[in-house]
Amino acid sequence: MNVQQQQFGSVACIEFATDKLNVLSHALREALYSALTQALSDESVTSIVLYGGEKAFSAGADISEFTQGTHLTFPSLHDLVNLISDAPKTIVAAVAGQALGGGLELALACHVRVIDAKAKLALPEVHLGLLPGAAGTQLLPRYIGVSAALNAISTGKPLKLADLTQTQLFVSLSQAQVKQDALAWAEANPQPVVHIKHTQVADAEADVLVAARAKLDSQGPAIVQTAILDAIQAATEHDFAQGFTKEQALFQALTETDISKSLRHAFFAERMVKNVPGLDNTISAQHIQNVAVIGAGTMGSGIAICFLKAGFNVTLIETQQAGLDRGLGLIGKYFSQQVEKGRLSAEKAAAIQTQLKTSLDYADLAHVELALEAVFEDWDVKTSVLQKMDQYLPQGAILASNTSTLDLNQLAQVTKRPEAVVGLHFFSPAQVMPLLEVVRTAHTDDQTLLTALNLGKLLGKVAVVAGVCDGFIGNRMLNEYLRIAGLLIDAGASPYQIDQALENFGMAMGPFRMCDMAGNDIGYLIRKQQLKANPNKKFSGIADLLCEQQRFGQKTQKGWYDYSTGNRRGEIDQDVLALIDAYRQQQRIVPQQFSDAEIVARCINALALEGYRLLEEGIALRESDIDVVYLAGYGFPRWRGGPMFFVGQNLNQFQQQVHTFAQDTVGDASFWQLPNILSQKLSA
Ligand code: NAI
Repeated sequence: MNVQQQQFGSVACIEFATDKLNVLSHALREALYSALTQALSDESVTSIVLYGGEKAFSAGADISEFTQGTHLTFPSLHDLVNLISDAPKTIVAAVAGQALGGGLELALACHVRVIDAKAKLALPEVHLGLLPGAAGTQLLPRYIGVSAALNAISTGKPLKLADLTQTQLFVSLSQAQVKQDALAWAEANPQPVVHIKHTQVADAEADVLVAARAKLDSQGPAIVQTAILDAIQAATEHDFAQGFTKEQALFQALTETDISKSLRHAFFAERMVKNVPGLDNTISAQHIQNVAVIGAGTMGSGIAICFLKAGFNVTLIETQQAGLDRGLGLIGKYFSQQVEKGRLSAEKAAAIQTQLKTSLDYADLAHVELALEAVFEDWDVKTSVLQKMDQYLPQGAILASNTSTLDLNQLAQVTKRPEAVVGLHFFSPAQVMPLLEVVRTAHTDDQTLLTALNLGKLLGKVAVVAGVCDGFIGNRMLNEYLRIAGLLIDAGASPYQIDQALENFGMAMGPFRMCDMAGNDIGYLIRKQQLKANPNKKFSGIADLLCEQQRFGQKTQKGWYDYSTGNRRGEIDQDVLALIDAYRQQQRIVPQQFSDAEIVARCINALALEGYRLLEEGIALRESDIDVVYLAGYGFPRWRGGPMFFVGQNLNQFQQQVHTFAQDTVGDASFWQLPNILSQKLSA
């Protein structure tokens, strides 16, 4: 902690800097409170400049304190806001770098602000299911108006400083040297400034709040938006002190909601994911600049785009020119679309693509530090490609595979350097999906793993470590989820009810809509493979019947839904319902009724139960890693935290439900058994 005070004439400058971007921990708050109190009582000081350094005025509150409750310990942010805004001397915030959340509120509490034009100011609390709780909802509307403040607080997006020059948010925008500019302003303006909190919100804009309220639905995260509207409304109706009290109560209530707890869990889970216990901490990631992608199909082309966008030199390798041409076509189309959508300039798109080379010769692997294969999912093809990679790659290079189903432990062993083999399991479309499973085989060494994780970061992906098993983390759980959803249809639910129930729960897409998008033929093949390995595994027969009628989903215009009318979400199809009826009659199944709640319980519990098995087998490192996989790759609602966090909120209920499902004939009794890891957790 470093809080220093210097005096320039009658202006005191309190400069603070911590190695954590001035996160407002209790220790920093205490140091600031004490420095401010001292400067306020010093008669030689007429005004004060508060400066947090170039990187950050402050990145905000220490979120872990919300759970511990220590955010309220004196001096809280409220105490600081009151001390500053009640001060009889002018306090100037000199803001550079980030001023986020509580950090921006600290700046707003000051009488005036001098802001670096490049600074990033935002109130992103909404992403944690919270509202700005240190007077942000009371002060921002006074500075920039209700409409702009509501927009900033309800979306969490950064303020556009250039649009706010006519407001009282700042007295000047600084091009550089924000500290000097703030000191100069304070020297030139020695008279105390009346704090804006003593004025009413200039234009109450009540209609803006009414309109925003009308747009809210009644579900899930809407309670956060409602609380934000209530707090801003209080700013328009009450004086500062009353409004601040109201904001405090609303903030405190939000910290107790499941939504905020889940969002905060997601926030920490994503930060935790890169920590792999037990790695040799003397080793660091290898530098990678030149990569090769082998196979220019759907995945290879998408992965090449990811590497190109992240600034790597890419060599794309195929066996035939036609394959390369197809890949180049896909890559070129992607970049032209980015230019058309205004996301990239034409020059930049062209410059990026000059980093792409193509080749039909594996000898070109001699110049790369990492090669990734995305060739056909076939054992013989993959082994021959891995052996060629082994033959041509230089010493120290990494051999990565994008296989989604083959046994990477065995694949690694066909090379002479299994320690340098790692799975990089991208999701389709690779250039869009943020998730990357980094598959650590039994042989992968620490440096290869670290390099792969670092690569994930450089690609802007959410990289999660997984062990080797059929489906890794995400797809293995998904297969059980889909299987249980399928068995529910046999027993009496319709695919449309199941989709609706899970979409109402918050899943981006119901399971059957998702299968239609991915292609029902993929699930068909997976079921056949799984039955080969385990002939007693119980599957619904209806999905197979659908495939036998070529109803593969969106690509054939018909699947569980009918897409032939052009409706991308698909329409309910009576033929599918008739097919299901006929199947049940043939199987002598008397259909049962299921409530939406039971459907959700069966499907989400199936995800979590398989998640516990992954933990028990050591495939996933932590429950929170599994949650990250589901948030980043499978459209699980972030405000529910992820499947493991969700069921973990009420483990006893989860246990009882699993026990009940094991007793009935709907599902698969052998599946609904508690793994040891869970029994131990429950008895702990
Ligand atoms: P694809 O069939 O679109 O592409 C495979 C490409 O590899 C073709 O262009 C083919 O010409 C090329 N190829 C085949 N043998 C080759 C060789 N010896 N040398 C160089 N190139 C060769 O397949 P897709 O969908 O791109 O899948 C590729 C890999 O990615 C598979 O391992 C698959 O399991 C995996 N994967 C696929 C996902 C998907 O959603 N399609 C998702 C995640 C992983």
